[in-house]
Amino acid sequence: MPRVAYVNGQYVAFHQAAVHVEDRGYQFADGVYEVIAFRRRQPIDEAAHLDRLQRSLAELSIKPPMARRALQLVIRRLLARNRIDDGILYLQVTRGVARRDHGFPNAGTPPSLVMTVRRSRPVPPATMAAGVAVITIPDMRWKRPDIKAIGLLPNVLGKEAARQAGAYEAWMVDAEGHVTEGTSTNAWIVTRSGELVTSPADHSILDGVTRRTVLRLATAAGLTVRERHFSVVEAKAAAEAFLTSTTSYVLAVVSIDGAPVGDGRPGRVALQLRHAYEAGVAA
Ligand SMILES: Cc1ncc(COP(=O)(O)O)c(C=O)c1O
Repeated sequence: MPRVAYVNGQYVAFHQAAVHVEDRGYQFADGVYEVIAFRRRQPIDEAAHLDRLQRSLAELSIKPPMARRALQLVIRRLLARNRIDDGILYLQVTRGVARRDHGFPNAGTPPSLVMTVRRSRPVPPATMAAGVAVITIPDMRWKRPDIKAIGLLPNVLGKEAARQAGAYEAWMVDAEGHVTEGTSTNAWIVTRSGELVTSPADHSILDGVTRRTVLRLATAAGLTVRERHFSVVEAKAAAEAFLTSTTSYVLAVVSIDGAPVGDGRPGRVALQLRHAYEAGVAA
């Protein structure tokens, strides 16, 4: 069964899916995106993803490509046409196709909307069980990473640096020495006094949909939760660390820059939250 993509109003064969060379996403990274996981062809946390999409679009003054109900319909049609049960849907909106010019094109220019789906490649159970390594790198992104914009060059370079170092992720560190987040994940620690800590959702991080779900689960489980900045030094001295995202769920971090976190094995809180998160997704 060949894969099908959605491109500006049409369902097309995946290998023929293309946008114009003067799409502003291609030339200026002038666009936003979402990645939505689905199970049994049901989008997970769809409302939260569409809320965030709407916010990202509004922050950049890009017109929504269609009404929310229509978008939900296209998502369902695309999932039905692809016959993939469990996977991820990528959705991108750009400011459209226009003669190259830095300023916005005229108001009548329709935004571009593309969507693709693919089978998920879940983190292997052995990796989940063992936990992963992260490295730290300077956070050299623009000052609005809270907008889920498609300009991801610092994230791309950071992820590649992690791979080259044999790590799973790179945690980005701001000028004050605070860990902001991973290149495609949110960062968490559990202090030795048992506090669960993650950066506040200000302009310095992307407010992950998984992050929000895990904050809710942690609070419901009676854990002490603090949304506050934490330093690399604090992270390295923490009892536990983990990361969260739509595709990685809750994944224990067992080393930072080559030094073990806690006893070098996935911590109890990370495991507890991973199980709670997986139970929610399965339900
Ligand atoms: C920079 C960044 N932080 C965090 C996340 C996690 O967000 P979510 O839980 O919505 O997948 C992502 C996901 O792509 C990301 O790109």
